[in-house]
Amino acid sequence: MRSFDEYRKIINDHLTDLIGDPGEEASELADAMRYSLEVGGKRLRPALLMASCEFAGGSVDEALPYALALEYIHTYSLIHDDLPAMDNDDLRRGKPTNHKVFGEAMAILAGDGLLSTAAEIVTGCPLKYFEDPEKMRNHIRAAHEIMSRAGARGMIAGQTADIKGENLEPTAELINFIELHKTADLITAPVRVGLMIAGADDDILERFTLYARDIGVAFQILDDILDIEGDQELLGKTLGKDAEQGKCNYAFVHGLGAAKEELHRLTAEAKEALAAYGDKASFFTELADSLEARNH
Ligand code: IPE
Ligand code: IPE
Ligand code: MG
Ligand code: MG
Ligand code: MG
Repeated sequence: MRSFDEYRKIINDHLTDLIGDPGEEASELADAMRYSLEVGGKRLRPALLMASCEFAGGSVDEALPYALALEYIHTYSLIHDDLPAMDNDDLRRGKPTNHKVFGEAMAILAGDGLLSTAAEIVTGCPLKYFEDPEKMRNHIRAAHEIMSRAGARGMIAGQTADIKGENLEPTAELINFIELHKTADLITAPVRVGLMIAGADDDILERFTLYARDIGVAFQILDDILDIEGDQELLGKTLGKDAEQGKCNYAFVHGLGAAKEELHRLTAEAKEALAAYGDKASFFTELADSLEARNH
């Protein structure tokens, strides 16, 4: 197992390797896709994917295309999330949002390009393993996992509930649905995908799924808290947008104190899910603590 910084470095070194060349007539598309990828980002999801794969005995080389695909999907979700028709944000990763630089049409296309490139990458991976049916099966499972968590029963369902929930009186159920799908699904996917590629058994998959869901929901609860009382410079996005847009923010439903308590409870529960592995899982338990303490 490596450190978070080492995984981040691997991702950053290879970030645009799989973007490809859309041709001279469409060169602005590649520029727009690259812009949002390279402008910054914590690389949490790809780091989780590579770490999970190594934890279960797999290799970083095998995990890397999926890690890139996941960062492409995450970045596309941010580009579209920031569009005027969605959250209408001008600042992302400390820089002007994609549509502010390239215009709305290009931002939509850059998002489409990142999503479809990700699908191309993950469906291409199993094709390398025709000679090894066991490995091919693991890779097909991983490809299905990533696309289904990103899709209409996963992240997009959460984004839909978030948009349809604007200016409604939010209920605990609605906020749970939103946090679980718009964010925790794209944090659960990398953990499960990394384990699947490595051929991990169901017991490991189950424990890590609990861990990932908990840190995923906790991640969005803290995102909601930081929108209220974070530091704009550190966050790299505009504060106070949730109140301005009547969003279902966990702290608006339950209060800031209860939001912080739930963040802490979920972090503890996530670590508890991996207790059976002791120090072997310290990458993941330490990451849960550092995510609880993050300010960006
Ligand atoms: C932002 O995700 C969107 C949410 C799900 C809250 P991150 O906070 O991981 O964004 P980057 O990748 O670091 O910019
Ligand atoms: C976004 O949630 C989640 C996805 C993009 C899937 P938010 O709208 O709260 O994320 P930020 O605050 O803009 O990063
Ligand atoms: Mg949003
Ligand atoms: Mg947003
Ligand atoms: Mg937010």
